[in-house]
Amino acid sequence: MTVSTSDNSTLNEVSSDNNANPMQSQRYPVICIDGPSGAGKGTVTWRLAQALNYQLLDSGALYRIVGLKAFEAGLIAADASQAIDEAAVLKLTQSLEIAFLPNNQSGRVDILVNGEAVGEQVRNETVGGYASQIAIFPKVREALLKLQQDMATRSGLVADGRDMGTVVFPDADVKVFLTASAEARAERRVAQLKNAGQAADFDAILTTIKARDDRDENRTTAPSKPAEDALRLDSSTLDADTVYDQVKQHCQIKGIFFNS
Ligand code: DC
Repeated sequence: MTVSTSDNSTLNEVSSDNNANPMQSQRYPVICIDGPSGAGKGTVTWRLAQALNYQLLDSGALYRIVGLKAFEAGLIAADASQAIDEAAVLKLTQSLEIAFLPNNQSGRVDILVNGEAVGEQVRNETVGGYASQIAIFPKVREALLKLQQDMATRSGLVADGRDMGTVVFPDADVKVFLTASAEARAERRVAQLKNAGQAADFDAILTTIKARDDRDENRTTAPSKPAEDALRLDSSTLDADTVYDQVKQHCQIKGIFFNS
């Protein structure tokens, strides 16, 4: 697998990285935002990357792409009735070429796989479930490890995921574990779907969220958990601005400089 990002993007302009240390040419600041889906990681990650002019790593998107492609290749049964072949998923993972293109209009990263846009489908809960199923495989995680780490060799990086602070960037400058109750996250998802004019069943969404949390937190390899030195933040009753302000303040305490 290869991953590339847009060189034109303001998020990738190394030269304007005001935190780069010229004495350590390969060492750029890394901020890790870990935690379960729906806790608000994506929003705070995007805002930090914009404010600091850092690159953004949406590691969940990597697992989602592998999950989606594995499903399309018939390696994952829709009803989870058959065991998944780890070697086949690994081979598929190694064959993918992924490009991340920050999209300022949507406030998210557009994704191309083997030159084709994957669209919003990759973000839905079904694909999140496929991602969580293939994310238990150590060899698949290993195949994704170095390319995630390589993203911190070009500019400052804000990385969003489950194991950013524990496994991928254990020496990161800033680690945050952002969580929220499963109920609060299900309510947010219901509101999102309703806003998009789609049907939403709170109980079904809550069950799916809890099942995914359980799988992500209890797998043997790189389970979702806070790093020992992470700031733990519960966003259940906080709005996005408050979460951002608290994370920003923590970054500043850790020596990250913001222009505004
Ligand atoms: O953050 P997300 O919802 O896009 O992640 C989708 C799934 O991918 C998540 O349920 C578990 C897996 N994942 C992971 O195992 N490690 C990461 N660093 C990011 C995501």
